[in-house]
Amino acid sequence: MTSNQRLLDWVREMAEMCRPDRIHWCDGSEEEYNRLCEEMVQAGTFIRLNPEKRPNSYLCRSHPDDVARVEDRTFICSKRREDAGPTNNWKDPEEMKAILKRLFTGCMQGRTMYVIPFSMGPLGSDIAHIGVELTDSPYVVVNMRIMTRMGKAVLDVLGDKGEFVPCLHSVGAPLAPGQKDVPWPCDPNNKYIVHFPEERTIWSYGSGYGGNALLGKKCFALRIASVMARDQGWLAEHMLIMGLESPEGEKTYVAAAFPSACGKTNLAMPIPPEPMKGWKVWCVGDDIAWIKPGEDGRLYAINPEAGFFGVAPGTSLRSNKNAMLSLTKNCIFTNVALTPDGDVWWEGMTEEEPEELIDWTGRPWKPGCGRPAAHPNARFTAPIQQCPVFDPAWDDPKGVPISAFIFGGRRAHNVPLVFESFNWSHGVYIAATMGSETTAAAAGAIGKVRRDPFAMLPFAGYHMGDYFAHWQAMGGKIKEHPRFFHVNWFRKDENGKYMWPGFSDNLRIIKWIIDRCHGRVGALQTPLGWMPKPEDIDLSGMTEPYTTEMLAKVLEINNEEWLAEAMGHGEFFAKLYHRLPKEMVYERELLISRLTAR
Ligand code: GTP
Ligand code: SPV
Ligand code: MN
Repeated sequence: MTSNQRLLDWVREMAEMCRPDRIHWCDGSEEEYNRLCEEMVQAGTFIRLNPEKRPNSYLCRSHPDDVARVEDRTFICSKRREDAGPTNNWKDPEEMKAILKRLFTGCMQGRTMYVIPFSMGPLGSDIAHIGVELTDSPYVVVNMRIMTRMGKAVLDVLGDKGEFVPCLHSVGAPLAPGQKDVPWPCDPNNKYIVHFPEERTIWSYGSGYGGNALLGKKCFALRIASVMARDQGWLAEHMLIMGLESPEGEKTYVAAAFPSACGKTNLAMPIPPEPMKGWKVWCVGDDIAWIKPGEDGRLYAINPEAGFFGVAPGTSLRSNKNAMLSLTKNCIFTNVALTPDGDVWWEGMTEEEPEELIDWTGRPWKPGCGRPAAHPNARFTAPIQQCPVFDPAWDDPKGVPISAFIFGGRRAHNVPLVFESFNWSHGVYIAATMGSETTAAAAGAIGKVRRDPFAMLPFAGYHMGDYFAHWQAMGGKIKEHPRFFHVNWFRKDENGKYMWPGFSDNLRIIKWIIDRCHGRVGALQTPLGWMPKPEDIDLSGMTEPYTTEMLAKVLEINNEEWLAEAMGHGEFFAKLYHRLPKEMVYERELLISRLTAR
């Protein structure tokens, strides 16, 4: 086990409160993984998929009310309300602890408490951090084994005195003696995803799903890590990391922040389009980046995770071949549909719908029955090494150098395909004011435009104004500055059709971005920033016929609409005013001046 006294004391204390029947220290072995999966098959939580079609893989169906992150039940309990800021839910930490202690008392009765030591980032790297999750969910254990470096090796690195982030999780469904368990236990009435940033601890209660329960992910690697990053001078971001290698062998890395279910997994591993034959894509990560200044004054990024927890619907050999090839074995599928031959299916996977399926709720399904077969936020859990374009640099403790930051949301109107900031502070402004239509990744209304600064609205662990100031200050700590770009793959025409085909064609835009980083291509100055000359984007061999005029249209800027956008930026800033860096106020004035200049 361990001789780390702080860890031993904490586990004992939490066990005394939660009163599990047993405690199991996870070693992270394959044998342990297989045993837990088999136990879940016996319990009806997992369905083993056809080993011929999908070896060593499982389907899991969650409770229909426990299918996504619950943002309205997510809290940042800093000592002072102002430190959480107006974009986070807050409660006094003492009050919250009292509520949680009541809920957690006896909450693991009849269950096993699993102790999961995990490392976010390469084991032993000085960029990595260790966490320990206590959970009563074997589903969480097996997902954490794919999503993180997990088990005994982590305890060895932790040693006697090592630091870790304590992460307490319960599905909130104690079993009375003799009570039969259900396949997906959770608490339908009480969910609390709670962060104590000063203590650097996480308490999550009532949900077993995704970011609510796999606490290494959003809770640690974003909300708590963003606080650590602010204090220690680095960045914890909701970003994919992708490398693009030219035929000459020049490798350039970009990091891109898009809100949940807005295309990070796609841009993390695209297949180069026809005119880019000879270019290679390297996937380092699809969701989270930890970024630190290196000794040479550049910014270096690591992916703290070890797997993909990706949106299944819409993923196909056409839209994301490398993702599909990552899913051929050793995967967990949650809330997708089951085919009669024991394989998985989801909307968009194939052009033709299967004739019959069992849907994500376990009911028979036929095309046209009026219900989706997979839940819109159905997810796959897959080891990153299974990605055909997996970058071995993923395990490099020093990370990869970042040349560009790319931001973007889902915007049907106004926002052009791509533009580049004039400088660092303007780049921070562009990221701070980005907006996106909400998706199924979080519970609540879908398709509403909301400001989602840096794609971090649900993930920043402190005041958003301070977060902007931290980004602003980071610009002063480095010698070589990545450039900032904004993209929008989701603009629609009058008929509601996407104006840009997207997916692998996005690499044509990334190529322009990289050429800009290396000073190889010019640009047009516009009120929003630098934009490509349409002739600088190679449109040969597009997935569908595409003309320079069509490109010009998706690059169009309407000054009136943008003045209205700038008003929206102002409204959002008003909420953050007391902690908003002055640069953001001035950048907005400059934008308005450019938009109204004759
Ligand atoms: P999280 O894992 O939730 O953080 O999100 P993600 O950003 O990794 O989401 P993902 O890449 O799985 O987003 C998938 C959704 O984006 C699907 O609905 C895709 O169809 C859509 N998508 C991805 N790339 C494109 C694109 O280039 N064009 C269009 N129109 N849709 C895209
Ligand atoms: C997201 O919602 O941004 C995700 C999925 O990446 S979850 O881990 O559930 O938060
Ligand atoms: Mn995400």
